[in-house]
Amino acid sequence: MKGVILAGGLATRLYPLTFATNKHLLPVYDKPMIFYPIQTLVKAGITEVLVVVSGPHAGHFIQVLKNGKEFGLDHLEFAYQENPKGGIADALSLAEDFADNQSIAVILGDNTTDADISSEVKNFKDGALIFLKKVPDPQRFGVPRFDPKNRLKIVEIIEKPKKPPSDYAVTGLYLYDNKVFDYVKKCDPNFAGRGELEITQVNNFYIQEKKISWAELNGYWLDAGTFDTLLMANLYWAKKKGFVVK
Ligand code: DAU
Repeated sequence: MKGVILAGGLATRLYPLTFATNKHLLPVYDKPMIFYPIQTLVKAGITEVLVVVSGPHAGHFIQVLKNGKEFGLDHLEFAYQENPKGGIADALSLAEDFADNQSIAVILGDNTTDADISSEVKNFKDGALIFLKKVPDPQRFGVPRFDPKNRLKIVEIIEKPKKPPSDYAVTGLYLYDNKVFDYVKKCDPNFAGRGELEITQVNNFYIQEKKISWAELNGYWLDAGTFDTLLMANLYWAKKKGFVVK
């Protein structure tokens, strides 16, 4: 399986931090943020990765990631998303040629986790597999509604619901077969009212086709895309490396 990291967008939520560089290059303790999703993919046995970038600082990535060899990657490729506010599904559409009819593991560039997804990657056959995590603030995320008769079955995913139908977040880690690129083409920018092509709509297409499954993400997970969660991610990884705040 190949890996795709989506690191486009403008990260306006983090202004003024992101005036001078891209969000995914900001520090999370001793590493730029994007190192974490790369390491998650490498730990899962993935050695061919595409990074989708956009915005005014897109050129900074190559200085930091170079050819990917120091992460253990055999192949590192970049794609440029022309509309930095096109949405996650728009960024993913750029991976079609790279995927070359194979399945892909997709990670959002601001998601840091110490979970090991290697068994899901190894056992993946087709459809989509999404990773869920119980959170205290589901309204910030895509949230699954489960079938009341069968908790294993997701009947719908709602993007940033005011009244979340469960206390699970759909994390930014996804496994997809090649049909994902057909679904991306069917996305509507008005789906969640923010003018973006939404990954949540892609996942809902898989639900309609009864081709989605989920696993609970086993480990720490944080989307480091706000001031508070960026600080929390820094503290988590610092403590994990033995740093003690005095
Ligand atoms: O973190 C998990 C959440 O990520 C999910 O629960 C949501 O369903 C999903 O929509 C997403 O929500 P966010 O509002 O946090 O997405 P955000 O716009 O912050 O984008 C997340 C990453 O996706 C960002 O770090 C880079 C990439 N991205 C985003 C956009 C809008 C792109 O590559 N291109 C884009 O146009």
